[in-house]
Amino acid sequence: MKKLKPLSILVHVGSLLPLAKLIFDFLTNNFSPNPIQDLEQQTGFAAITLLILSLAITPLRTLFNWRAPAKYRRVLGLYAFLYATLHVTVYFAIDYAFDFSLLFEATLEKRYTLIGTISYLLLIPLAITSYKWGMKKIGKNWKKLHKTVYLIAPMLILHFAWARKGDIFSLQGDVLQPLIYGVLVILFLVVRIPVIRRKLISLRK
Ligand code: HEM
Repeated sequence: MKKLKPLSILVHVGSLLPLAKLIFDFLTNNFSPNPIQDLEQQTGFAAITLLILSLAITPLRTLFNWRAPAKYRRVLGLYAFLYATLHVTVYFAIDYAFDFSLLFEATLEKRYTLIGTISYLLLIPLAITSYKWGMKKIGKNWKKLHKTVYLIAPMLILHFAWARKGDIFSLQGDVLQPLIYGVLVILFLVVRIPVIRRKLISLRK
């Protein structure tokens, strides 16, 4: 039998905790008076957190030469996709019951949902091609395709901040978490720029 590694346990248990909490809250009737909003907020937050963690793995190797988490990048990305799918399903199927005229009006009112939808659509091909057969199927283009995550992540930060604030452009109120996540995304992307990456590796050595 394959031995379970502590890091593997941490990744899987940590990633499934938000889902376990949702199920627990459901079974114990522990939601707020607006359970749909609770579901949207908790699944959205889990999705973006896991996506950022998956983006952190390459910088960990660059900065600290820590290679062990590399194989969990795909796993974290797929867990992020799972929560994003739950988030989108709650919105379209439960909140709006697929009523497309209502959805259209809601999109005009809450523009951040459009950014969420585009981001989700862009994530689908990444999730589908994250398996070995997907890599084989698209060959050289795999890397190029998966680089779209560098665009999707900032779009989702915008979606997050905007959803929290209602108006992201007046920097008041509940923007601390999206701001921290935004700074992390910027750092994780900057570390990937080849000249900066080379510099950091030579400094480390
Ligand atoms: C990859 C896709 C997506 C991710 C990672 C994501 C992530 C998030 C996050 C982090 C929040 C803020 C949660 C909080 O306040 O703690 C949020 C809120 C929200 N998202 Fe998304 N989102 C995605 C796609 C979508 C889509 C496609 C829609 C609908 C078209 C959507 C609708 C909403 C709504 C309505 C809220 C506000 C919930 C509320 O506070 O009432 N999201 N999302």
